[in-house]
Amino acid sequence: MSILVTGGAGYIGSHTVTELLDMGHKIITLDNLQKGHKKAVLGGKLVNVDLLDTKKLDTVFKENKIDSVIHFAADSLVGESVQNPSKYFRNNIIAGINLLETMLKYDVKKIIFSSSAATYGEPDRIPIREDNNTSPTNPYGETKLMFENILKWYDNAYGLRYVSLRYFNAAGAHSSGKIGEDHNPESHLIPIVLQAALGQRPHVEVYGTDYETKDGTCVRDYIHITDLAMAHILGLKRLDENGKSVIYNLGNGEGFSVKEIIKVVEDVTGKKINVKHGPRRAGDPAVLIASSEKIKRELKWKPRFHEIHTIIETAWKWHKNNPSGFGD
Ligand code: UFG
Repeated sequence: MSILVTGGAGYIGSHTVTELLDMGHKIITLDNLQKGHKKAVLGGKLVNVDLLDTKKLDTVFKENKIDSVIHFAADSLVGESVQNPSKYFRNNIIAGINLLETMLKYDVKKIIFSSSAATYGEPDRIPIREDNNTSPTNPYGETKLMFENILKWYDNAYGLRYVSLRYFNAAGAHSSGKIGEDHNPESHLIPIVLQAALGQRPHVEVYGTDYETKDGTCVRDYIHITDLAMAHILGLKRLDENGKSVIYNLGNGEGFSVKEIIKVVEDVTGKKINVKHGPRRAGDPAVLIASSEKIKRELKWKPRFHEIHTIIETAWKWHKNNPSGFGD
């Protein structure tokens, strides 16, 4: 199959591209390389295109045979989205609609969409199921929910079928050690703690110790990046077999607090982490834990790296061997 992967040079995108290449698919990675890394794309074709550039986007579809699309390209920082919502509506909604319009023009009608646990906002029950109330607490989550709704109506009117995957906390790195997580600036907990283990940061600041959780710190559901990647492949299979559009959660169903993650990093790396207690970060829900029963049942998705130690070991292997990330 020939698959267009937008945002394929990013963290989740590049791991998915790697799995797809291993399975023998033909891949066209589309990325504006603002946050993505050229070196993270291990094969296939890479086109440096921004989805806001409709002319160039059209050329990509004109020059390549495309059977389906996996759409990762987006801005994804919660805090930034609160400060600068216009950037998020432009890059996540307008750019996304450009993609859908071009797909329709070239009669490409299958898409896997990167959604997020941020669509739920403060959850009304735990574990979170797909039928939980959705009430985003920031523009980032709002754009993800809006785009799911856009997809629903495009399916209804134009028969464009989709699988939307609501990720919880993506973590870890490819077991080969060739690719991993590299954001600049880094804002995610696990890479930050690993940078502290490498001596690149003097300490880790824990954002809030007064939550109503087991130890007062936020609880998250961490899912290995390769397990996440495999879910996209199962989603594509569903669409190829003429399955209906659907939304799935993706997590491991187990929650770890910030303090627990720091402890696991200490175990895995053998380094002591200096910790400072800071105030809460705006917009952080106390607990986010997924129920992924639906995707397990319907697509037979089975996480291989569900152990938090294993997840962090793969991340550590990447960070230790690539202390400056991709070096770009
Ligand atoms: N945290 C710290 N210190 C840090 C960094 C993070 O205490 O230096 C805490 C956060 O407050 C949070 C937890 O660690 O409680 C995890 O934070 P991350 O930034 O790693 O992940 P989030 O849960 O905030 O973000 C994830 C995805 C986002 C998505 C969001 C939806 O990475 O893309 O869930 O809520 F938008």
